[in-house]
Amino acid sequence: MSEEHRAVSIGERGAAVSGDRGAPATGEHGAAAIGGLRIGAVTTRTNLVLSPMSGVTDCAFRMLVRACSGDSVGLVVSEFIAAEGLTRDNEKTLRMLRHDESERPLSIQIFGADAERMVRAACMVEDAGADIVDINCGCPAPKVVRRGGGAELMRQSASLATILRSVRRAVSIPVTVKIRAGWDCDSINASDIARLVESEGADMLAVHGRTRVQLYSGSADWDLVADIREQLSIPVIGSGDVVDADGALERLTGGYADGVMVGRAAMGNPWIFAQIEAAAGGRPVLQPGRQERVRALRTFRDLLREHACDRRYLGRFRGLACRLVKGMRESAAVRRAIGAADSIEGVEAVFTEYVLHGPETVDHATAVA
Ligand SMILES: Cc1cc2nc3c(=O)[nH]c(=O)nc-3n(C[C@H](O)[C@H](O)[C@H](O)COP(=O)(O)O)c2cc1C
Repeated sequence: MSEEHRAVSIGERGAAVSGDRGAPATGEHGAAAIGGLRIGAVTTRTNLVLSPMSGVTDCAFRMLVRACSGDSVGLVVSEFIAAEGLTRDNEKTLRMLRHDESERPLSIQIFGADAERMVRAACMVEDAGADIVDINCGCPAPKVVRRGGGAELMRQSASLATILRSVRRAVSIPVTVKIRAGWDCDSINASDIARLVESEGADMLAVHGRTRVQLYSGSADWDLVADIREQLSIPVIGSGDVVDADGALERLTGGYADGVMVGRAAMGNPWIFAQIEAAAGGRPVLQPGRQERVRALRTFRDLLREHACDRRYLGRFRGLACRLVKGMRESAAVRRAIGAADSIEGVEAVFTEYVLHGPETVDHATAVA
């Protein structure tokens, strides 16, 4: 896409500005990097997206991110949900569709390989009230790819085209797709798949610039994201290795993508989207203090009690408690004590004592790195 067209389409999307790649920006220039995405009929307030993460981005965690980052997070995406389980009325899978009005706009991601089941699952997602349905073409897990879903769909382009075309016809909410770079370093085909995805009517594409074989090793290829963005008219979101405000703004002001997804960094720093927006506007970046951390853990406790799909959520509660103290002084022993606590109350007691009365917090950027 030429720069001239870029300016028009960026204006239409209201998203990232293009500029010299690689320069983090704050203040006026950075503020222009933050803007709404137009995803079919859905418009988001910002182009900062919470990544889908299996076992993490359920209703409780998505609401925690909303509570900590407010409307700086433009879109939240659910963990992936099996089309097979949904269409077989599996009770646990159906519970994963649960959401809260406060989460909107909300995208629910599904995975599978059978077009008919994917259509039925997408209709269930629409009926459940999601604003967007997202199709997973990036999951590397053997049990998913063996059955033809996730990243395997990037090797089965005819099958992917059929799924997309059928889902597109069946639902009236926007349809989006998330892909990886390709299967392995000898078969990087994200550009071909991206063009196919757009031609089959998808409203947005997210690209995690690693191959299936890489899993999470190495680093995500943002040049690939930028190349794909040049070729498409729909918004292109980049995913991978955004750990702080500077990293997000570097990708946005550098013109790599129309929006950025944040995944792992948000697991220990649910304030990250507010931090990115503050940095972009040249405002002080909130470093969560002792009280904020305690409040976040208690909020998560209440959200898990009310919204968790699975009653056995002690592990997830421990996980957040450990991540919230990571990077603080002498926290290794506290993380061990949190790991050993066998109740929600026990975890909370260890955490609160340390956070409120332990050694002072250090740089939070270290905590999320
Ligand atoms: C625990 C975990 C679970 C994930 N589950 C999903 C998923 O369900 N669907 C998906 O498209 N990507 C999933 N991903 C990939 C992330 O969405 C994201 O693309 C990747 O982690 C790179 O971004 P990050 O460096 O910001 O974490 C998962 C990643 C992690 C770490």
